[in-house]
Amino acid sequence: MVARMTNLATHPPRVAEHEVLPLLVARWSPRAMSGEPLAAGALARLFEAARWAPSGGNVQPWRFVYAETGTPEMAAFLDLLEPGNRVWCVRAAALVVVASQTTLADGRPHPTHAFDAGAAWMSLALQGSSMGLVVHAMGGFDRARAPAVAGLPDGWAVQCMIAVGRPGRVEDLPERLQAREGPSSRKPVGEIAFRGRFGAGA
Ligand SMILES: Cc1cc2nc3c(=O)[nH]c(=O)nc-3n(C[C@H](O)[C@H](O)[C@H](O)COP(=O)(O)O)c2cc1C
Repeated sequence: MVARMTNLATHPPRVAEHEVLPLLVARWSPRAMSGEPLAAGALARLFEAARWAPSGGNVQPWRFVYAETGTPEMAAFLDLLEPGNRVWCVRAAALVVVASQTTLADGRPHPTHAFDAGAAWMSLALQGSSMGLVVHAMGGFDRARAPAVAGLPDGWAVQCMIAVGRPGRVEDLPERLQAREGPSSRKPVGEIAFRGRFGAGA
């Protein structure tokens, strides 16, 4: 029997309402990973992609703290995850904590630090997707403990965690996750973009 691997070729393509860059529609968040380490330099390419994201004042308030499979740090990062995420992240090649600096150099609150870190995450995700990797963001982790585990100084907030890995066998996922393994759809443009006033037509 041929194993059902997680990659886009095994799933029906998503259909965009309007013409966009194909990689935007091709990216999705698989959970099935093989457990193998990444190729040398792969993670650096993901962080390089994040580096070029735009940010308010070009402050670049994002930071990425990562752990790779087989290291003590990986065990500690895995332990941060909610059980529902840990169950599939045991086959991740790396886990990443995304942090952002909440204040500007002069001490004032930075109003766009989270927005900027989100832009950097998306660049990272698109780069990983284009390299054929699983890149999956997670909000389900212990936010109280994450800053200490990642060694964040004061003034830094954890935004998210990310699983990165090589695609794996869908059969290795728990049954309930096997059923969900595939690209999801989206709200129509008319529901998210308004001309002039919230709720008005596009
Ligand atoms: C901020 C954020 C938090 C998320 N948290 C989780 C999570 O804890 N567990 C999980 O399995 N997926 C998580 N996801 C993945 C989303 O469920 C997924 O991106 C969404 O359903 C859209 O699907 P797609 O990424 O495959 O297009 C998260 C995504 C984002 C951006």
